[in-house]
Amino acid sequence: MKKVLIINGSIRKQSTFGLLKVVESLLEGYDVDFINIKDYDIKPCIGCDSCIRKGNCYIDDDVEEILGKMNDADGIIIGSPVYLRHISGYLKVLIDRGCVWYHRSPLVGKPVFFITSTQVTGSKAAIRYLSDLSVQWGTINTGHISRNMFNLDNEVEERALDKFKYYLEEGNRKEYRPSFKQIIEFNTQKVLGVNIIPLDMQYWEEKGYADKPYFYDCRINVFKRLTGAAYYKLLTHFIVKNKS
Ligand SMILES: Cc1cc2nc3c(=O)[nH]c(=O)nc-3n(C[C@H](O)[C@H](O)[C@H](O)COP(=O)(O)O)c2cc1C
Repeated sequence: MKKVLIINGSIRKQSTFGLLKVVESLLEGYDVDFINIKDYDIKPCIGCDSCIRKGNCYIDDDVEEILGKMNDADGIIIGSPVYLRHISGYLKVLIDRGCVWYHRSPLVGKPVFFITSTQVTGSKAAIRYLSDLSVQWGTINTGHISRNMFNLDNEVEERALDKFKYYLEEGNRKEYRPSFKQIIEFNTQKVLGVNIIPLDMQYWEEKGYADKPYFYDCRINVFKRLTGAAYYKLLTHFIVKNKS
């Protein structure tokens, strides 16, 4: 049975929680784990870079447990209230703690789906941030639901999760068409991955990403392929020149 992790990024169990519960009800037949991050001890990142350079974090709290759940899930649904045109600070603190995933993402190819709730404004900016995060994680962004005080109680159509469910099947990834932004981001990570940090080099080698136009086999048109390769070459030249 495919595993889905639902993360409520609100301190409260109200609007975001309610929406996520509706979404959960559409996931019959899946192994769903619903977590409220307020139930966990989540301390802020101290910026020591140890996770990136040494592969460990010195902070003793519950973050490893949550990141482990994200790692184990086949797909992840994240909900957040909009706080001043962004996600909640508490959720952002959790995401910052997984910053090593910019270098070595265990979430590559997993579908993600986002939910935001706001009084009136800021959903677009919060969703833009979450979409960018998905690009950095190498996940498949399968859509979002944004609600405000005027439409909070509107029905959530079952088909909203169709794409999410489709990509829970790993074999369907080959049909995915990464965006231009994803190709560029992948190649940026590849340049860093094969040139700078020893742990990254080992990981990229092990995963076999270094020889690929994207993390996994999927549908990439010639234009994106060629632009990605040219960008990679240019950035490698720049990095190598500045290293020596
Ligand atoms: C710190 C803070 C910042 C907020 N910023 C905005 C905002 O920029 N625009 C807006 O329309 N609502 C804003 N809100 C309202 C929440 O987004 C809204 O009430 C949301 O539905 C709460 O979700 P929850 O019930 O899951 O906590 C803010 C609320 C808080 C507490």
